[in-house]
Amino acid sequence: MACPARLRCVPRRDRAATVFAALAFTLLAPAAARSADEIHWTILGQTAVTFDWRGSAAENTIRFGTSPGTYSRSVSAQTPSPTPDSSPGPFWEAKLTGLLENTLYYYSIGSEPEQTFRTPPPRGSAGFWIAQEADIGSTVSYSAVGPSQALIAQDLPALAGDDRPRLVIVPGDLTYGDQNGIANVDGHFNDVMPWSRTAAYMVAWGNHEWDTSVGGDDLNNYEGRFDFPNSQTSPGASAAIGNGPGEDWYWFDYGNTRFIAYPEPYSGAWSDWATKADAVMAAAQADGAIQFIITYGHRPPWSSGSDHGGESSLASMMATMHGKYSKYVLNIAGHSHHYERSDPAQTNGMLHIVSGAGGSSLGGLASPAPSWSVFRLDHLEHLRLHVQLGRIDGYAICGPAGAGNSDTCTQGTIVDQWTIVAPGGGGTSDVTAPAAVRDLRQ
Ligand SMILES: [Fe+2]
Ligand SMILES: [Fe+2]
Repeated sequence: MACPARLRCVPRRDRAATVFAALAFTLLAPAAARSADEIHWTILGQTAVTFDWRGSAAENTIRFGTSPGTYSRSVSAQTPSPTPDSSPGPFWEAKLTGLLENTLYYYSIGSEPEQTFRTPPPRGSAGFWIAQEADIGSTVSYSAVGPSQALIAQDLPALAGDDRPRLVIVPGDLTYGDQNGIANVDGHFNDVMPWSRTAAYMVAWGNHEWDTSVGGDDLNNYEGRFDFPNSQTSPGASAAIGNGPGEDWYWFDYGNTRFIAYPEPYSGAWSDWATKADAVMAAAQADGAIQFIITYGHRPPWSSGSDHGGESSLASMMATMHGKYSKYVLNIAGHSHHYERSDPAQTNGMLHIVSGAGGSSLGGLASPAPSWSVFRLDHLEHLRLHVQLGRIDGYAICGPAGAGNSDTCTQGTIVDQWTIVAPGGGGTSDVTAPAAVRDLRQ
């Protein structure tokens, strides 16, 4: 039989030997070394966390303990449901329960070098840092995502003390895998690893996680990568392609603060959230260990971005809850790709922050700035919060130059800062902005 020109042909007997040799090599050679990746985790409660990652079947176990290099416990991961399909995976999820609170654990997944995670501090305690960013993407499409994530992992010279975040809140538009290509999904979860192996990744969904299915990127790629504490289901959420039960919003406590996420605007979802979050806030208001209630979600109640304005119905629901619960004074959102701080006196007594410049392109600012807008910046940034007893100091940190920014700042510097003081014994809230706020647009 003639041998096709495009093939490298060998005599029949030699071909059999070649096949045998290849088979023997496959059976005898060690599995190709491929490290586990996309490693991140969420807080489930005072004594539980959930890890998610990608790795081979041989890398489906997380080993951990309270001393370096000594792993007294291990958990075999399960295939998450729904299962991400942004790549073949395999994807793994492992619940670690029965942990000690406020404890540093050392862990290893597969052949990955040892990392650490910390369980939440005792209820009512303070003295920790958290970070927030949104609208990120991946280095597959935006070169600024890499330095943005490295910055979040850093102890910043501009801030006194160790300000590395214990958890990072990311309210939406994580990867833009829907519009920029499916490779951005896996790319994002590797890009965030400078911080996501040690700080908890606490997410809320944005429109780019669910409202288009371009390129096959659906909500299963996100719900399958996170486990939510106090997971809730929203009415209308079945409109999201790839949505399973639960994981539309959630809440959790960390030290002296109750964090409550809000869902995307599925039909009826926000009014349902307002009803249920009211009860969660009422419990926090009556809880002597809780001093602050913070909400976060993708859509901004107040925004003067030229890409997206505010959502007045959401602002109204939050104002109603603020009127009932004095511990509730702060909301943080994304979706509009810039940074903006409201004047609480003009936004129903609440401090509203837009912080949606985590690495993707900037969105621009509508002109003129509305009177309620105290400070805004069209540049990549992230937020850092220093949560203390009776006080939260907030700092907007300048990121690297991004696509389309119209403002400038120096990476790693503080571009805006503000303070929230806990309500006094009488239950009144006081939100003050320190005088030393620099407006870099001037
Ligand atoms: Fe976005
Ligand atoms: Fe968005």
